[in-house]
Amino acid sequence: MALHILDLLENALEAGARHIQVTVNEDAESDEISIEVQDDGRGMGAEALQKALDPFYTTRTTRRVGLGLSLLQATAAQCGGNVAVESRPGQGTRVAATMKLSHPDLPPLGDMGATIAAALSREEPVELVYHHRRGPKEFHFSSAWLQLHLGEVPLNCGPVLDWAQRYINKGVAELYGGEGK
Ligand SMILES: Nc1ncnc2c1ncn2[C@@H]1O[C@H](COP(=O)(O)OP(=O)(O)O)[C@@H](O)[C@H]1O
Ligand SMILES: [Mg+2]
Repeated sequence: MALHILDLLENALEAGARHIQVTVNEDAESDEISIEVQDDGRGMGAEALQKALDPFYTTRTTRRVGLGLSLLQATAAQCGGNVAVESRPGQGTRVAATMKLSHPDLPPLGDMGATIAAALSREEPVELVYHHRRGPKEFHFSSAWLQLHLGEVPLNCGPVLDWAQRYINKGVAELYGGEGK
């Protein structure tokens, strides 16, 4: 799942986003997991939005097929869910995937710390919020909060990114009562 989120974060960064919000919500009662990535990048017009979920469409020039969104869509469909993309040119994009929490094919969450750290490692600074709810428990990470404590130290340097990765993975593990996932 973290790799899908990494794909979405890369799309957002490529679209020039300055603020990105990642929200994961696991709700056993409704048997649903939702994953949402919202950005303030350049967005897509109606036509581009329609094409965005087509694996043979990409605006990148380094590869002929765009796979991020269509792979996510395949995973979601496989796990009894779907993907919704909302976008406004010049304003931003919101990608929301939902899946059945108890589905046997549901991918494991994976390394969320590494995913968030990778997004923060870019040269251009980005403000990133990661919010993860699991039933009554929640974990919140904000890069702006971290930057505030760092003062002059840049966020996108090795030791800080390593720390952020561990901090996030520890926080997420606590959502699972330490049993991990
Ligand atoms: N968050 C986003 N903001 C703006 N455009 C996006 C965003 N996500 C996807 N797109 C557009 O949809 C296309 C397909 O995305 P994707 O399936 O991830 O493939 P790829 O990133 O390899 O092109 C991208 O090339 C881009 O034009
Ligand atoms: Mg992509």
